Order: sequence, then C-alpha cells, then structure tokens
Amino acid sequence: MKIAIIGTGNVGSAIARGLAGKGHAVMLGARDPGTEGVTRLAAETGARPAAPRAAAEAADVVLLALPWAAAATAIADLGPLAGKVVIDCMNPLGMVDGALGLMIGHSTSGAERVQSLLPQARVVKTLNQVGAEVMARNAHLPHRPVQFMAGDDGAAKAMAADLLRDLGFDPLDAGGLTKARLLEPLAMVWINQAILRGKGRDWAFAAVQGTPREERTMSDTLHASCHCGLVQIDLPAAAAGVLACHCGDCQKMHGNFNAFLAAPIADITLTGGEALVWYQSSEASRRAFCGTCGARVLKEVTAAGRWLVSAGLVDGPTGKRIVRNLWEQSRPDWYDLPQVSA
Ligand SMILES: NC(=O)c1ccc[n+]([C@@H]2O[C@H](COP(=O)([O-])OP(=O)(O)OC[C@H]3O[C@@H](n4cnc5c(N)ncnc54)[C@H](OP(=O)(O)O)[C@@H]3O)[C@@H](O)[C@H]2O)c1
Repeated sequence: MKIAIIGTGNVGSAIARGLAGKGHAVMLGARDPGTEGVTRLAAETGARPAAPRAAAEAADVVLLALPWAAAATAIADLGPLAGKVVIDCMNPLGMVDGALGLMIGHSTSGAERVQSLLPQARVVKTLNQVGAEVMARNAHLPHRPVQFMAGDDGAAKAMAADLLRDLGFDPLDAGGLTKARLLEPLAMVWINQAILRGKGRDWAFAAVQGTPREERTMSDTLHASCHCGLVQIDLPAAAAGVLACHCGDCQKMHGNFNAFLAAPIADITLTGGEALVWYQSSEASRRAFCGTCGARVLKEVTAAGRWLVSAGLVDGPTGKRIVRNLWEQSRPDWYDLPQVSA
C-alpha cells in the first residue's frame, strides 16, 4: 500500500518504524521534511519525507497522527482526499475540568469531526487506543494486542485491518464510525493506567477468547453457530430477528435455547447443520416460513441439528439477544413444513 503518515511525532514515527520492511511505500508528511529528525526517521525506516499535501495526494491510505488542536488546520491543507482511506489515530484531548480529558464525546467523536472535514474520504478510527511504543513494538507481549476499528466503509476497514496485522495487532471491527465514541474513551483508560496508575507504557489491551463462535467479517457478514458448533449460519450484520438453537447438546449445556440475531430468512445461509425455520416479521405478524425463503436456508443441510428462528425484537447494536423460550409453544407440524429445493 502507499501510505502517508501525516505527523512524525510519537505516533507517526512509531507507525513508520512498525511498518518498516513490511512491503509498503511509506511517506512521512512533515511540515518541514528536511529537519534532522525527519531525515533520520526516513533513513531508519526507508520511508520518504514529503510535504503533508504531496504525501497525502500520492497515497491510498492517509494516517493522521496530529495533535487534536492542529487537526482542523492541518486537514484543510491536505485537500479533499476523495476516496482515500483516512486512518484517524488522534484523540481529541485537552484540559477538561483541570485535567487531561476528551474535549468531545457521547454524541459525537473526533473521528466523526474528521469525517465531516473530509466528506469524500473513508475514515477509519483506530491506532488511538494504546501508546505509541506498543505500535512500534509489541511482539514481546504474551498476547497479541487488540486494536478496534470503527468506520462506515467495509473495504476501508479491511485495508486498515491489513495494516494493523502488519503492526502486530489483532484487528477487531467495532462497527460504524459512531463507535469511535467508544474507542476514544478507551484511549483514556489506557492513558489513565499508563500515566496516573503507574502501569507504565509497555502494555496493551488484548481480546482473549475461548472457542470462537461468532465473528463479524469486514464484509459485514455475521458467522454464527450454536454452542455445540453443529449448526452454522452466515447472515448480514444488519440483521432483524433472533435465531434460537435447540439441538440436544445446546440444551444440555445451557438448559435452554441459545439465540443469535438472525436476518430476514431470505438473507440467511445455512453453512452447517440442519435448520428448521419459523419467522415473524413483527410481533403482530407471526408466520411459518414460506417455501421460497425456506429453500434458501434449507438447501445446504449437511448434518444433524435443529433450529428455530424464534420471535424476538431486533437488537441491532449488540447483534445478539436471548429471547423467551418458544419451545413449549412450538408445534410438531412445524417439522413437516415443506422443504422446497432452490
Ligand atoms: N503519544 C501516544 O502514545 C498516542 C497514542 C495514541 C494516540 N495518540 C494521538 O495521536 C496524535 C499524535 O500524538 P503524538 O504523541 O504523536 O503527537 P506529537 O508527538 O506532538 O506529534 C505531532 C506531530 O504532528 C505534527 N504537526 C503539528 N501540527 C501540524 C500541522 N499543522 N501540519 C502538519 N503536521 C503538524 C508535528 O510536527 P512538527 O514536528 O513539525 O511540530 C508532529 O510531527 C494525538 O492526537 C494523540 O492524542 C497519541
């Protein structure tokens, strides 16, 4: 990738060092590209110094590593960056009630401000959640450190994820750009631990998980399975409805259904197990699946297992919701619903 790092301070230089030798063409966007510090960094990392606008214009990915107070002016100098991926590493820090804090939050974020300054760019918030040292060097940590990403463009997040992997991070999609409202305060947690609570700067957050059961991909497909792993589905992340498994093993393990957010039936692909589908589009209109929709779900039946798509309200933000147990209300004749092949 052609990457412009705008700002060559702690973060910019750390990322330049972390990306050195990873096969990217990195440019260092500096107000004075000829200073000794920039020249030394360029020699050390193989990056090319340039004026910020020239660097940004030549890049596919523009990484903003600027002080928040300078952001608006510096961004205005970069041009529109139309279609480019803009990685916003900045935290909108300032003095709040006499202490270092976030100048904005809750109902907006620094990243959303950046997007409003660059409406034609594809902004991704990431690399703001840990100290610069960990961005440059983290292979010694016992767990791969996590770095959340927020952004509205799936392809842009996929590119950011590739860069994060090159920097040694485990990239995790946090959702749309508004989720930057969560990631900027997360930086404050790191700062508080590192600086005020004596933890130092050589640590990072990690996402430590047991058996993976669900993963949102960059293309915003949700892969879900029941706890026993027998039944697996793919569905769009922007889904509506709730899917409940009640195969024997799941009930043994949990004594009840395990539920996952499900999409309209036509959007669900069963990739493993056997599914029986019942769907309601709202509390008022309960119905069994139609042959056409059911065919799409049932055509890839591969193994034992039994599913219901049960009643439930949409839980968009979390993507998951446990609903009331519908097993007692279910009717045996559901199992006789026609399985029409596609
Ligand atoms: N430090 C961390 O550990 C860390 C971690 C995560 C996120 N962040 C965030 O990352 C951002 C950068 O932090 P930092 O510690 O790297 O800051 P820094 O060391 O002060 O570096 C800021 C860089 O921005 C450049 N700059 C300032 N105004 C500019 C302008 N108008 N046009 C172009 N370049 C300009 C500076 O250039 P000159 O050298 O010419 O002044 C400097 O290279 C901040 O928003 C911070 O909150 C920091």
